[in-house]
Amino acid sequence: MRLALALISAAACLLGGVSLAEEPIVIKFSHVVAPDTPKGQAAERFKQLAEQYTGGKVKVEIYPNSQLYKDKEELESLQLGSVQMLAPSLAKFGPLGAKEFEAFDLPCLFPDRAGLHRVTDGKIGAELLKKLESRGIVGLDYWDNGFKIFSANSPIKTVADFKGLKMRVQSSKVLEAQMRALGAIPQSMPFSEVYQGLQTGVVDGTENPPSNMYTQKMFEVQKYANVSRHGYLGYAVIVNKKFWDGLPEGIRTQLSKAMTEATAYNNEIAQKDNDDALAAMKASGKTDFFTPTVEERKAMCVALEPVYEEMQGRIGKELIQAIRQEAG
Ligand code: LMR
Repeated sequence: MRLALALISAAACLLGGVSLAEEPIVIKFSHVVAPDTPKGQAAERFKQLAEQYTGGKVKVEIYPNSQLYKDKEELESLQLGSVQMLAPSLAKFGPLGAKEFEAFDLPCLFPDRAGLHRVTDGKIGAELLKKLESRGIVGLDYWDNGFKIFSANSPIKTVADFKGLKMRVQSSKVLEAQMRALGAIPQSMPFSEVYQGLQTGVVDGTENPPSNMYTQKMFEVQKYANVSRHGYLGYAVIVNKKFWDGLPEGIRTQLSKAMTEATAYNNEIAQKDNDDALAAMKASGKTDFFTPTVEERKAMCVALEPVYEEMQGRIGKELIQAIRQEAG
């Protein structure tokens, strides 16, 4: 009898051990946008590759559309380890004490994607990601979204049209300064609340790349838009450092490979996704899209130039100069 019991318990231990050994490592990847955006699709691609390359030893759970956490909470949750991976926009790193990332919000900074990539793929981009480590975060890669356009419920063709408008911004001091330079009143608000804020008139307008404006249906509650491409919105994919460093080396290598490929995919689709979103919104006829001439856009950039001086104490004069030089 005793022998039988011992055998049963040994078998149970063995089975338990086997099932424990097979328990996958779970990566919770939270983000705030829709699945059919560049970030949403790249997160899916990362999941697929990560699970494939690790032979199922890693399971990636994606929580889009602020399902799990809103902007600020997701950063806190990453630091606490309740989620392992995020891809917040570069405008949202200020609350982490990494104010330098707000340099990417400076208006009219990048003439094109090539200029942006010279910064993100080069020394400056790498050094910025390194700064996150002292905050318990590892920066893996940059993911593109696109150039922002303005929208509002009154025509916004010239700088004068922005006067007194309440404009939603992300939690970035540079973006607040940008709206003030236009004579507007900035209002910081989590992404998940923007549609309702626009619908109910809590804010009059906002800015975002077309892919976000389209997938969040903001165009349905905005009568006017200015295809100003006045600023850039992109992301850094970040992980909890303790989690990342604690992974078996082989797994980390496979995950890095999956991330490199997901990044390439993201950056390949970002432009087209935004072009398609803009075309779809134009076709809907719900919003009146104004495309400024080169001179009209230049006039807006001139009005926004004081933001650079105002923000150099926050971001660092040298960093701004270095990015401007690389950006071309
Ligand atoms: C926003 O809050 O407007 C964007 O950062 C959302 C996103 O992640 O693209």
